[in-house]
Amino acid sequence: MTTEPTGPTAPSAHRAAPLSPATLAVSAGRPPREQGGPVNPPVVLSSTYVSRGVQQPGELLYTRMDTETWHPFEEALAALEGAAEPGVVFSSGMAAIAAVYSFVPAGGKVVLPRHAYQVTLGFADDLATRLGVEVVRVDVADTDQVLAAIDGADLLLLESPTNPMLEVADLPVLLAAARRRGVLTAVDNTFATPLGQQPLVLGADVVVHSVTKYLAGHSDVVLGAVVTSDPTLAARVRAYRTLHGAIAGPWEVWLALRGLRTLALRVERSQASAAEIARRLAGHPLVEEVRHPSLPTDPGHERAARTMTGFGAIIGLRPRGGREAADALVEAVGLWVPATSLGGVESSLERRRRFATESHTVPEDLLRLSVGIEDVEDLWADLDRALRATVGD
Ligand SMILES: Cc1ncc(COP(=O)(O)O)c(C=O)c1O
Repeated sequence: MTTEPTGPTAPSAHRAAPLSPATLAVSAGRPPREQGGPVNPPVVLSSTYVSRGVQQPGELLYTRMDTETWHPFEEALAALEGAAEPGVVFSSGMAAIAAVYSFVPAGGKVVLPRHAYQVTLGFADDLATRLGVEVVRVDVADTDQVLAAIDGADLLLLESPTNPMLEVADLPVLLAAARRRGVLTAVDNTFATPLGQQPLVLGADVVVHSVTKYLAGHSDVVLGAVVTSDPTLAARVRAYRTLHGAIAGPWEVWLALRGLRTLALRVERSQASAAEIARRLAGHPLVEEVRHPSLPTDPGHERAARTMTGFGAIIGLRPRGGREAADALVEAVGLWVPATSLGGVESSLERRRRFATESHTVPEDLLRLSVGIEDVEDLWADLDRALRATVGD
């Protein structure tokens, strides 16, 4: 999928062909090309703007409402997701998800994956308790189950691939069905990134990101974003941000835009390494189960191959020996970092059920591996050695 950037972000007036996402990650959100002007957008550190009388359209007033430091990142993300409206940056992925949940009225209904980021699920439970929202959790890989659940829903919030089980939803089918039934759809595209899939192009109303992960990419910033092509929804999300105040700081947005420039290189390298590591793990005598959509035997493989343009860089691994073996593996690795979160340049891993709040249908011994951009042979040597040192005992 290619998108044409517009306005001052267009790299050059004489270029006519649409640009690929890899190019847009580098070229979108640049300042106008003026002699002596900067190549990168400036960071403006100001909480308020010179202003008197009635605010005119396009005039900046106060940074909680809007600031020019957000705009280049918001334009670049919209270009990457194929959106007609600029993205809306938030202080975290959860703040962005909170804005999406604000579309669900008290007493309304939300359908979401049984496996998803645990705080996204916990947030829905909070809506159920406080506002009487009906929360229906579905297996997103089971298309019929999702279709049966969405009648009368106010929001279908999907993750695909899911965190941490890597189930793959048939997004084109589900999004089209929800649209026909007047159900608003949002897709958390954190795992796939816009290089792996563009949910808006596949029919979603809204995309949400934990920018903290691949988009920023260096584990040095917490940030989120909502992207939509619908001007009414975009205005509602902006109004929500102003009202609730979960705004992004200027340095965080600068870091995220800087990280975004290398998104394609990082994602391409990480997912190629992930596919190779998954392939080797699948044939490893000390491995019980490995999940990665690149594996021909993976339940999500056929669907991911059909609907996605990359298999992502997250692996699910269950070593032989159960929970103790999984914990021992986390202790034994040297290069892989034992840490939560994902999508950084450094490879990391954790056992998800160490959190009491993780879904209880996630296996106790499931390790979520986030493959970074180190040399794949170094990553493999470390993992293989750790497996043999712990599980092999
Ligand atoms: C898929 C997914 N969505 C959303 C979030 C929340 O993002 P943040 O931690 O930036 O608030 C996470 C965090 O791990 C995540 O994995």
